[in-house]
Amino acid sequence: MTEHSSRLRIYQESVEQALDHWLPSASIEPTILHEAMRYSVLGDGKRIRPILLYATGEAFGVDLKALDGPACAVEMIHAYSLIHDDLPAMDDDDLRRGRPTCHKAYDDATAILAGDALQALAFHILAEDENIKVNDTQRISMINTLAKASGSRGMAGGQAIDLASVGKSLDISALETMHSHKTGALILASAELGALCVDEVETEQFDRISNYARCIGLAFQIKDDILDIESDTETLGKPQGSDVANNKPTYPNLLGLQGAKDAADKLYNEAIESLDNFGQSADMLRFIADYIVNRNK
Ligand code: IPE
Ligand code: IPE
Ligand code: MG
Ligand code: MG
Ligand code: MG
Repeated sequence: MTEHSSRLRIYQESVEQALDHWLPSASIEPTILHEAMRYSVLGDGKRIRPILLYATGEAFGVDLKALDGPACAVEMIHAYSLIHDDLPAMDDDDLRRGRPTCHKAYDDATAILAGDALQALAFHILAEDENIKVNDTQRISMINTLAKASGSRGMAGGQAIDLASVGKSLDISALETMHSHKTGALILASAELGALCVDEVETEQFDRISNYARCIGLAFQIKDDILDIESDTETLGKPQGSDVANNKPTYPNLLGLQGAKDAADKLYNEAIESLDNFGQSADMLRFIADYIVNRNK
């Protein structure tokens, strides 16, 4: 294992331990709801948003321990978005992270509530976690960053655009808007939350990290669209071909597979350029950008 992939593993282990800590035990009432929350969050996810948050925080010299809470918060919002994304009213998928989706393992009502509760828990953690070592103004700014990225001007808005676009052929700018909302917003917030774990970050450095994250966030969803065509259900742990089956507008659909890959590569290059003046402290961020465009799941 290279030095970078073992650091990645440390990030994953760190967030998984923290998630286990913050999620209510399945023995606490209402037990089925808590079980469903744990089932969805603790499944086999890549933890890309926490990883990005840790790597950004570390680039600014923050300790892992202070990043655990925010890392859990973004992963909980993400897990909630996946639970709802899979519901019959949305993408109607039966497989997630290699096992039945939440509404299949439990039922639709439990899945809706598990998503609702995870969203609330994410904000509770940002408000409560004593390991986050910033002043209160900055803490509010963290809460606000996650709220904006999750709501109708961020992820939830992107999901609404996605559903309204079924069967339509969007132009490239509309597709970019959809992707940067439904997926990009939370990825951007993950990096920004890592940077907000320090009391003072120079605006120029913050903007560079934001631009990096904007690029890899869009590249992440383009790659997700590509994998929906090129990969297989077993590797993905979710149904391959779901976009085609649901008649979703995607990058490969509009630009062809090669066009979509070129778009992802271009974003990768811009992301790397944004980190120009960071030196070695941003090596993990460079590694993550590479992982995002070259992953197979
Ligand atoms: C899938 O996200 C949904 C998208 C936003 C494309 P991930 O590919 O990060 O899913 P997990 O967390 O690894 O399961
Ligand atoms: C989902 O996009 C984005 C969110 C969950 C916010 P997709 O519908 O493409 O994600 P997958 O492919 O089901 O993971
Ligand atoms: Mg979807
Ligand atoms: Mg989906
Ligand atoms: Mg997809």
